Amino acid sequence: MNQLTDFSSRDDLDHALANTVSNLLAEAIKQKGKASIAVSGGSTPKGLFSLLSKSDIDWSKVTITLADERWVALDSQDSNTRLVHENLLQNNAAVAKFFHLKQGEKLCTDTLADLNLAAKNSLLPLDVLILGMGEDGHTASLFPCSEQITQGLDETNTNALLSVEPKTAPHQRISFSFASLITSENVFLHLCGENKQTVLNKALNGDDKFEMPIRAFLQHPSLNTQIYWAP
Ligand code: 6PG
Repeated sequence: MNQLTDFSSRDDLDHALANTVSNLLAEAIKQKGKASIAVSGGSTPKGLFSLLSKSDIDWSKVTITLADERWVALDSQDSNTRLVHENLLQNNAAVAKFFHLKQGEKLCTDTLADLNLAAKNSLLPLDVLILGMGEDGHTASLFPCSEQITQGLDETNTNALLSVEPKTAPHQRISFSFASLITSENVFLHLCGENKQTVLNKALNGDDKFEMPIRAFLQHPSLNTQIYWAP
């Protein structure tokens, strides 16, 4: 299931999404005393991060993480962690906790096991998940071209995180699995540009999730993925 909202500009979209997400986080804090959110990297969310960082909620009770991370140095231009630190963990949101996916030099079995345990114990299920989508229909680092896609999309997978080696994109990745991401209370797909609209239409008009992993979210019977699109 999914619901599409079109905006006339990226700025309108960013304001609306920042507002909705802030309200959801504030509500979770009111109900449980804490809130969690996973955001995506890439070029789309910068403006959203900046607005969100200024929202007036109790960020000290919020844990922020990434839906996926590239296994690169934290000071690399390609680091999603760096993007979040420079754009979201600022202003009011500077006091939020950050759940680091990139730990150490190598993504080894022990690191994955530790992260899986920590994610299950302290982070999941997420209150808010904001996904992006690549032009090949990948989301998080669930890449159609990767050997790990079967495991990544397996709804019975009990591992929250997996290592992914995409064949058509740079860097080894760590990604939350589909099984763990669909436990999120609120799922958003943030898309900008005509190309993404074309890819979205293709995703909505077919059903092979291994060809376009985003379909697993858009067409899941009990998940309501809220799509926010602007030109
Ligand atoms: C990543 C992602 C990825 C991203 C899409 C869209 O680290 O690459 O989290 O899933 O959201 O590829 O990227 P753009 O916003 O750059 O188009």
